[in-house]
Amino acid sequence: AIPSACDFTVFGGTGDLALRKLLPALYLRDLEGQLPADTRIVGVSRAELDDDGYRAEVRAALTTHVAPEDLTDPAVDRLLARLHHLTLDAHEPDEWHRLHALLKDRPDHETAARVFYLAVAPSLFGAICDNLEAIGAVNDAARVVLEKPIGHDVASARAVNDAVGRVFAESQIFRIDHYLGKESVQNLLVTRFANTFLEPMWNSHWVDHVQITVAEELGVGERGGYYDHAGALRDMVQNHLLQLLCLVAMEPPSHIGRETVRDEKLKVLQALKPMTAEGVDHDTVRGRYTAGLVDGVAVPSYADDLGPEGAPGSRTETFVALRTEVQNWRWAGVPFYLRTGKRMDRRASEIVVVFKPPPHAMFPHSEGTTEPNRLHIHIQPDEGMRLHLTAKEPGPGGIRLRPVSLDLSYATTFEQRSPDAYERLLMDVIKGNPTLFMRRDEVEAAWTWVQPILTRWATSPDRPKRYPAGTSGPTAAATLLERDGRSWQESDQ
Ligand code: BG6
Repeated sequence: AIPSACDFTVFGGTGDLALRKLLPALYLRDLEGQLPADTRIVGVSRAELDDDGYRAEVRAALTTHVAPEDLTDPAVDRLLARLHHLTLDAHEPDEWHRLHALLKDRPDHETAARVFYLAVAPSLFGAICDNLEAIGAVNDAARVVLEKPIGHDVASARAVNDAVGRVFAESQIFRIDHYLGKESVQNLLVTRFANTFLEPMWNSHWVDHVQITVAEELGVGERGGYYDHAGALRDMVQNHLLQLLCLVAMEPPSHIGRETVRDEKLKVLQALKPMTAEGVDHDTVRGRYTAGLVDGVAVPSYADDLGPEGAPGSRTETFVALRTEVQNWRWAGVPFYLRTGKRMDRRASEIVVVFKPPPHAMFPHSEGTTEPNRLHIHIQPDEGMRLHLTAKEPGPGGIRLRPVSLDLSYATTFEQRSPDAYERLLMDVIKGNPTLFMRRDEVEAAWTWVQPILTRWATSPDRPKRYPAGTSGPTAAATLLERDGRSWQESDQ
């Protein structure tokens, strides 16, 4: 249920995430009348800003990041009236009582949902939580939202979880993976478990392999400082791609509950084939973009994107492809191929489930071509699904086979706009529903699986393979499948 009052505090309130995603999402929910009527939004940052200065920044951000048809003066004014700004430094706890004074300055402060959103570097998570506890701001209605990355490796992820866990109970901690808030990602579970025709085939008897691709056209842009310490494996694979894999591979829970789905996802992570050093060399490819053309526009190399201060000798990867398996009864022997990269030839997040050929070839002498059945799930852009089948081409002479497809497009099937992932997730935080957030054991299991790759890459003499911006990645990524007699589904025609 939606509480009647809420104080939503954003640490990093003037940062890119807050201005580009969080405040627009809060605005759009407010526009729909879904924010608790009595909601205050407190931006916390080190910037010397008063409430009015912050409102001006947020007004500009809304104008840039909300579609013009959704901007109305009364709604913008209503959101701005909710805003406050506090200048605080995580390392200077003396000032923090001002935050608590603000939070207590309402009659229902004991019961109002009290959200602390940490849109800051994870190195500050512990200090912020300690300060919140020291000023007495952590009550039963409090919850904390952690943005990724949660840690840098297994050990630091545990340290972050320990530090936050000393102050907040696990039920109060919301670890965001914004992919879980995307409509098309939530639809994965509905597609699998609200229909009968797929699930009997969703296993190693009928599935040949699964491909998961998250390709971006963007480069690292202004985020080089963060990105160069992370790289694609930490930035995308450890969280978004493994979460997608979990939703494709997990067993049906008895019901969709706050723990049941997460229990099943955890089992998938624990069943992933562990990577050995040889396995890393054999089954992973890392790449880095050089200058090239994206959509006909010349773009610089990764090194040039980092600029003159860019770390010399950096071996950060901007592309990863890998092969893994889910070692359980359902999926034994079925390869899962994952890849993600920046500055690729297209922006496309998609899952392709490729089925095995029919058990018996009934039309061996027919003309035409056949392709394996495959279900192509488009996460973004152009959310939808396409099921590839074989049909008889109309005609009086013999049987001529031709690949055809059944299409579902979200845009034409559903008339309403798909909300942004953050709109859904922020409302879940306000309502206190953690189903779409990562539990501590999930995050740590994902890091545990990724860790041998990190370790091997850090010590291996190999460097990321170069790929020109605007391509589908290094050729080694294609070889990863070709040696298994398969190939990436580059487009869905
Ligand atoms: C973020 C990564 O988590 O996801 C970014 O840090 C990446 O590097 C982004 O660009 C992709 O998200 P989306 O929703 O645009 O696919």
